[in-house]
Amino acid sequence: MIRFQASPKFDKAATFILLDKTQIHKKSFNLITNATLRDAVKEIVDAGQFHGEERETFPIVANKKVLLLVGAGEPGKTNLTTLRSIVRQAALSSCFKKINDIELVPHNRETETVIAIIEGILIGTYSWDKYRKTTEKTVRPIEKNYILAVAAKKEYEDAVVTCQGVSLTRNLINENADIVTSELMESTVLGLVRGKKNVAVEILGKKEMKAKGLNLHLAVNQGSPNEPKLIIVKYTGAAKNVGYTAVVGKGVTFDTGGLNLKPTGHMETMRSDMSGAAAVIGTLKNALALNLKSNIIFVAAVAENCIGSKAFKPGDVFRGYNGKTVEILNTDAEGRLVLGDALAYVEKNYKPSRFIDLATLTGACVVALGYDYTGLVSNNDALANEILAHAEKTDDRVWRLPSYWEIKDYVKSEIADLKNVGLPKGAGGAITAAEFLRSFVNDTPWAHLDIAGTSFVDGKGRFYYGHGATGSGVRLLTSLLKSKE
Ligand code: BES
Ligand code: ZN
Ligand code: ZN
Repeated sequence: MIRFQASPKFDKAATFILLDKTQIHKKSFNLITNATLRDAVKEIVDAGQFHGEERETFPIVANKKVLLLVGAGEPGKTNLTTLRSIVRQAALSSCFKKINDIELVPHNRETETVIAIIEGILIGTYSWDKYRKTTEKTVRPIEKNYILAVAAKKEYEDAVVTCQGVSLTRNLINENADIVTSELMESTVLGLVRGKKNVAVEILGKKEMKAKGLNLHLAVNQGSPNEPKLIIVKYTGAAKNVGYTAVVGKGVTFDTGGLNLKPTGHMETMRSDMSGAAAVIGTLKNALALNLKSNIIFVAAVAENCIGSKAFKPGDVFRGYNGKTVEILNTDAEGRLVLGDALAYVEKNYKPSRFIDLATLTGACVVALGYDYTGLVSNNDALANEILAHAEKTDDRVWRLPSYWEIKDYVKSEIADLKNVGLPKGAGGAITAAEFLRSFVNDTPWAHLDIAGTSFVDGKGRFYYGHGATGSGVRLLTSLLKSKE
């Protein structure tokens, strides 16, 4: 939990003080509003023990308190991504292991800085430790009480709320696929919207999908013992005549690849293949908690791509909800099938003013951009630029990839309207997959975010994220949908 107090009492067991090089150089410590602590810091600086360098830390004991001096580097040089990671590192420091109440003095009070510090704590110290054996009984860092030495502001409170949505998304992604089934996604959504007046929910299960003809979605789920689900929440936060933004997430609860089975090394993280839908659910939580004054349609397209005697097969042809037929040339290219039906269904029945879909869609996007940038493909420059602006603001990074009319030919089939693979050897796989999706949208402005690289860290960590789900897309979407206010 984070609270805000312009002049904290400094009566807690520990204080974490960020200092940049200019403060050290000018010896200006006026943000430390407690004279005893200020003098202790001055003493260390005068002794030449602390310089404010990026990531430098110096623990001292003063006034019977643990004081951790943390270097914030040079103003203008140390960016906010680095600051988040500095805060993460310091918050996880062994100094604070047994301390649950921590005061934090920032090196400046700019709104952007304070939000980065909040995120450094709430996103940086998140960890998926449910299945880790712990011997020591310590409070998890994310659950500690932090008192930030700044006056409360709506933007700060909103940042805290937003991070809680990010945590929900991360928990859904990190948990076992046999726990996070379509049932659990449904009950999570229903739990969030319970008692809310400005929402309408529609959920299509197997029976409804059969009746309505969402055969691409059904095909992907054929081998699964779990029901497929298309979960739709219509949220009205503005006047009814204001356009609705539809956010649509790929929710493949596990992607084995299907009969085109994924090899070892490619399947271990595939419980994260519902990251798009999880980001939609985290954003729904935020929209409700922040009472966003926008109209939004939240969509989670949930299926499971299994092997078995009932699984769909390479060479099969299915007719989607929009009437187009698709030749399946690789059962591992399942995300576009589930999303294609979802986009067509929502466009026809909800007529949104614009679409943003999020999907762990292609390994090709990871090859193209790596793990730090989400790929963006859009048929509308205004929408694409809006997304890029919010991506920049929230550090939920996005890079635009091209889309041009000739790509159409790359997803044409010899025997059906479309095929679910693109060029030979997967060339340009991220943009051909996006083109497949685009062909399920008529005239609605549309943007596609490929989060295959950004949604999950399969290693020790990067930037200010630890191992596992990052919650990519949630801060971006929350910011974008909020700006409609
Ligand atoms: N879920 C995967 C994409 C993926 C890869 C997500 C790595 C996260 C990390 C997707 O369903 C898939 O397997 N796509 C194939 C498409 C190909 C068969 C045309 C791919 O990218 O290889
Ligand atoms: Zn796949
Ligand atoms: Zn997939």
